[in-house]
Amino acid sequence: MRLLVGVCGGIAAYKALETARLAVRAGHAVRVIQTRNSMRFVGRASFAAITGAPVLSSEFEADPTLGAFPGDSLPAYAPISHLALVQNADAYLIAPASAETIAKLAAGIADNLVTSAALAAACPVIVAPAMNGRMYANPATQANLRTLAQRGLTVLAPEEGALASHGEHGLGRLPEPAALLAAVQAAASGARRGPGGGGLAGRHVLVTAGGTREPIDSVRYIGNRSSGRMGLALAAAAAARGATVTCILANVALEPPPGALVRRVETAAELALACRETFPASDLLFMTAAVADFRPLSAAAGKLTKTGPNAPALIELAPTEDVLEQLSAARVPGQVLVGFAAEHGPGGLERARVKLARKQLDAIVVNDVARADIGFDSEYNEATLLTRGGRAVDLPRMPKAELAEALLDHVGGLIGQPLGAGASAGAGD
Ligand code: CTP
Repeated sequence: MRLLVGVCGGIAAYKALETARLAVRAGHAVRVIQTRNSMRFVGRASFAAITGAPVLSSEFEADPTLGAFPGDSLPAYAPISHLALVQNADAYLIAPASAETIAKLAAGIADNLVTSAALAAACPVIVAPAMNGRMYANPATQANLRTLAQRGLTVLAPEEGALASHGEHGLGRLPEPAALLAAVQAAASGARRGPGGGGLAGRHVLVTAGGTREPIDSVRYIGNRSSGRMGLALAAAAAARGATVTCILANVALEPPPGALVRRVETAAELALACRETFPASDLLFMTAAVADFRPLSAAAGKLTKTGPNAPALIELAPTEDVLEQLSAARVPGQVLVGFAAEHGPGGLERARVKLARKQLDAIVVNDVARADIGFDSEYNEATLLTRGGRAVDLPRMPKAELAEALLDHVGGLIGQPLGAGASAGAGD
């Protein structure tokens, strides 16, 4: 998602910084615009460092990146409008939104970049008020917020707690950054799906992510470079659509999305066990984990030394079970299984088609890990979705969070269909 963040003056501006950081970490491309007053609280340099993009604070200031978001290529011509950023955004979050800015938005006043962008926005606009409790409770502020909500803007409720003014307690605190980001993702994916479509409320989505480690001795293992980023992006996107999400994480250092149920595993055997226990209650499985195909036949007790009687000349390997194939064999009608194939170099699509058929999947997502600009530890990915019905959907390079939304758009609708329904229709048809 391309997220534009408008920051107003207020002590809570520091939370906008943390929200921008979380959004970048979740794979979103973020740009920030600030009111002049907001710069008294957090300077441009902080937002620029976190987003990796210039920060604008005036309608009369040229954007060095010509309205582009991080990861996008620069347009060939400079846009005429200072509103190019909001035109390119998928969502516009105003946080903290001061009482003054809220009043201006309600009156349609566009006297700075933050308010002008709001007036020109075609994407979802999310307003997160933060102010003194008495200012928030004032009928003028309340009437303004009602006006914004009636016009279709998403107005977030502030939280109750200690306020900036010494000793004051009340309603007016900006929600925590993770909650802000979740609200933005929900508003943006709701807009993408259109009213009523694509929701996963009442569904259980199981995501495996990361890479298994097969012990050689008590300190060494055979592992792989999977970070778990793609799986976590899918988990976050499914949660934002209302699903109950379980993540089985194999050696993942990144934070799972708030609210997801998490099981942590190390080896392929532990992953297989966790999947066997969780899969029967799941409607949709995203098997993004990189599972070792072989493990050392026996893990040495203690630490092997390079000299001495237990120095290994060779490590004997034994195959692990194919977890996905086993789950597929045990599926009941209505369950949807999506595999992931990280292929290296030419012929990847053909190899993935063979896996799709052998493992009896509904779809398989293929990407080329020979490329350095996508895949493993990157925030970006580019993939082809192959379906049981023989369709190949090219999903061009985009942030992993956006790819997750696209994948859910394509396979979410298959849940509950009789086994093999995707064969004639093709996932996402
Ligand atoms: N997979 C699995 N269990 C394994 C190996 C793979 O569940 N032991 C799953 C992966 O999580 C992925 C899909 O199968 O969703 C495809 O994984 P991949 O490693 O590409 O396929 P393999 O069958 O292992 O084929 P190969 O390693 O020969 O390419």
